[in-house]
Amino acid sequence: MGDPGKERAAELFSVVGRTALVTGATSGIGAMAAAALAEAGAVVHIVARNAADCEETASKLPGAVALPADLSTRHGIAALADRVPGPLHILVNNAGTLRENPLGSFTEADWDDVMDLNLKAPFFLTQDLLPALRAGACPPAPATVIHVGSVGGLRVGPRQTYSYAASKAGLHQLTKSMARWLAAEHITVNAIAPGLFPSRMTPGDGEQVLAAVSASVPQGRTGRAEDIGGVVRFLASSAAAYITGAVIPIDGGLSL
Ligand SMILES: NC(=O)c1ccc[n+]([C@@H]2O[C@H](COP(=O)([O-])OP(=O)(O)OC[C@H]3O[C@@H](n4cnc5c(N)ncnc54)[C@H](OP(=O)(O)O)[C@@H]3O)[C@@H](O)[C@H]2O)c1
Repeated sequence: MGDPGKERAAELFSVVGRTALVTGATSGIGAMAAAALAEAGAVVHIVARNAADCEETASKLPGAVALPADLSTRHGIAALADRVPGPLHILVNNAGTLRENPLGSFTEADWDDVMDLNLKAPFFLTQDLLPALRAGACPPAPATVIHVGSVGGLRVGPRQTYSYAASKAGLHQLTKSMARWLAAEHITVNAIAPGLFPSRMTPGDGEQVLAAVSASVPQGRTGRAEDIGGVVRFLASSAAAYITGAVIPIDGGLSL
C-alpha cells in the first residue's frame, strides 16, 4: 500500500494530464518551460512561427503537439486560438522579442514590433482562450496563465532597449489587472521575471561575455533550464492555487 502523505504531496505538485500551451516554445525559456511541463506529464502545445522547429521540439517531448502560429498580428492570434482544443489548464505567454538602439535612432518599428509581440499578444491570446481556460478551471485546481516578463521590466539594465523595458513593465502590471478580474473565475494569472538565460535573444555568448554577465549576478551565474522549469511547474500545479497577480523574479538576485 502507498504512503497517503506522499501521495497527497505528489498530487499537490502534479500537472499530470493537464493541457498546456506554451508560446515561443522552440527555443530558450519557452523550450525550458515546455520541457518541464511535458516531462511532468502535461500535454503541451508547442507554438512558434517555424513549423519545422515546432515539429522537432514536439517530437522530443512526451505527448507534445506542434501548433505553429505567428502571434505578431491580431489575425495570427485569433487563428491560433481557433485551433486550440478546450479545456486548457495552463497558458504560458512566453514569445517575445527585443530591439536595441540609441534613443535618437529608435524607430517606430523598434517600438511596434516589440509591443505587438510582448504586450499585445499575451493580452489578446488570453482573451481568445478564455472559453478554453474557463472550461479547465475549478476551485481546487485553477486554470493558470503565466506571463514571461523580465528583470528588464523591474530595473533599468545596461542596454538601450526602450520598448522592451516598457513592454515588460507593462506585462507585469497587466498580470495584476488580469489576476484581479479573473480571480472569481478560478483562473490565476502570474508572471515570472527571468534574469539572464543564454538563448537566441541574448547577445554574444562568448566565454568572456558570459563571465562578465555572470559577475553582475549576485549568485554569480546565468540561469539554467531547471530554474525556469521548477517555478513554471509549481505555478501550474494546485500547490500555487492561492497565488495570483504575483511577479516572481528568477534571476539569482539581479533585480535586487
Ligand atoms: N533569455 C533571457 O535572458 C530572458 C530574460 C528575461 C526575459 N526573457 C523573455 O523570455 C521570453 C523568451 O525569450 P528567449 O530568450 O527564450 O527567446 P528566444 O530564444 O529568441 O526564443 C523566442 C521564441 O519565440 C518564438 N517567436 C518569436 N517571434 C514569434 C512570433 N511572432 N510568433 C510566435 N512565436 C514567436 C521563436 O520561434 P520562431 O522564431 O520560430 O517564431 C522562439 O521559439 C521572451 O519573452 C523574453 O523577453 C528572456
